[in-house]
Amino acid sequence: MHQFDLKNKTAIVTGGAQGFGLNIAKRFLDSGAKVIIWDIDKSELIKASKELNNPNLSYNVVDVSNFDQVKEIVDDIIKISNIDILINNAGITGSTSSLWDYDVAEWNKIVQINLMGTFNCCKCIVPTMIKNNYGRIVNVASVAGKEGNANASAYSSAKAGTIGLTKSLGKELADKNIAVNAVTPAGAKTRILNQMSKEHVARMLSKVPRGRFLEIEEFTSLVCWLSSEENSFSTAAVFDISGGRSTY
Ligand SMILES: NC(=O)c1ccc[n+]([C@@H]2O[C@H](COP(=O)([O-])OP(=O)(O)OC[C@H]3O[C@@H](n4cnc5c(N)ncnc54)[C@H](O)[C@@H]3O)[C@@H](O)[C@H]2O)c1
Repeated sequence: MHQFDLKNKTAIVTGGAQGFGLNIAKRFLDSGAKVIIWDIDKSELIKASKELNNPNLSYNVVDVSNFDQVKEIVDDIIKISNIDILINNAGITGSTSSLWDYDVAEWNKIVQINLMGTFNCCKCIVPTMIKNNYGRIVNVASVAGKEGNANASAYSSAKAGTIGLTKSLGKELADKNIAVNAVTPAGAKTRILNQMSKEHVARMLSKVPRGRFLEIEEFTSLVCWLSSEENSFSTAAVFDISGGRSTY
């Protein structure tokens, strides 16, 4: 697989204990980066750390929806290291339900993790990137944020918000060597699919002209380019990886 040059770069990958995040962490390590994975799930973090078995990997148990926790950990990290790359990947879909039947607390939680988590990490990490005049931020949104999936109003709203955040922040930082982009994947076979009904997942798949799930490695390749120095111009943009599903 093609390697990007990420030597001397330090990356934080949120939600990195499994799924997309774990694969991104692996490719970043293979590309020479130091990687810090953040996740709320301690046992998966320990498993991931054993699996990757790399001295350039470390991890923290972090709930990205908790601003104070994120701030405390960032303050500790920047005492000893730059943060060059931030992948805002932690997310949940929540359950499948019509808006009027949605549990209010669950709706809130989905927005808190997917959207506010991205805000919290950007708010705490962007100042150090500005100081270093270098940064690559990739926000993992979803095709749901562009199209709006029925019975996934919280998730679709949070991911649409993530796209809006990306466009705003990218413009705010455009005069610096800092790129902020969002990616909008279609369904891939990770644990997240278990949160939705089988019918919902089948409906998602039926909308993809390629007629198959996105492979995790295909997704990682796009994230790697966006996270590298080679991406020196694209910012405040949304990169589609939905197998033809998105129409814009
Ligand atoms: N797999 C798909 O079909 C798909 C499609 C579109 C977008 N996405 C997005 O991709 C991202 C990664 O999802 P995935 O498919 O790898 O799912 P996953 O469930 O395999 O991994 C998500 C990780 O995020 C962690 N996490 C959840 N809440 C957290 C919190 N509050 N703080 C820190 N970590 C937390 C989980 O513990 C888990 O390790 C998500 O943002 C998801 O919305 C996934």
